[in-house]
Amino acid sequence: MRFFTLPLLALAGLAAAQNKATISLPQAGASIAPGEVFDFQYNTMADYGISSYNFTVWLFTSEFPSSFAPTQNFADGHFFGRYALPNYPGNPYPTNLPPPTLTMPNFDKSPGGFGAGLAEANQNCTLVVMEEYATGVGSFGLRFALAATSIIYNATSA
Ligand SMILES: *[C@@H]1O[C@H](CO)[C@@H](O)[C@H](O)[C@H]1NC(C)=O
Ligand SMILES: *[C@@H]1O[C@H](CO)[C@@H](O)[C@H](O)[C@H]1NC(C)=O
Ligand SMILES: *[C@@H]1O[C@H](CO)[C@@H](O)[C@H](O)[C@H]1NC(C)=O
Repeated sequence: MRFFTLPLLALAGLAAAQNKATISLPQAGASIAPGEVFDFQYNTMADYGISSYNFTVWLFTSEFPSSFAPTQNFADGHFFGRYALPNYPGNPYPTNLPPPTLTMPNFDKSPGGFGAGLAEANQNCTLVVMEEYATGVGSFGLRFALAATSIIYNATSA
């Protein structure tokens, strides 16, 4: 038994290290219906020697931007929120824990006022997380990690 458990533990540690700055839920390619409550799980950069602070969660319903050049039509989508996961000693007791689920907006509905919604089917959208973290190597501001997972909005066939 001893010969098997040690390598397995080592593998588990390796998997955790490789998972940094990744979205494990929803899974890539998941179909999410308008209004659906879906599981959300993000793995932060936190590790020995790395502190994680806040991360913001976004959905891009337009093509994932390839440029940050200022423009009035940068992208379409939705901002879910700014969250943090506990990590010692950088942010041990965050009060803004990520919810275990997020709710996909129904983009066909008006967001209010002049805003008009739009019905869409089978749209390739990108769930994006931008995380603020820092290491013992000085950085000019916090470091940003960017994670992205593509999902399908309002798939009409399973
Ligand atoms: C993290 O986000 C929360 C909620 O927006 C904010 O109150 C807090 O000041 C932020 N913490 C850091 C370290 O940026
Ligand atoms: C989802 O797709 C169906 C089929 O095209 C469409 O009738 C419906 O309006 C769409 N829903 C939303 C919220 O866009
Ligand atoms: C969605 O877009 C991503 C990123 O461009 C691509 O990798 C993926 O194949 C696309 N999926 C579908 C179903 O079009």
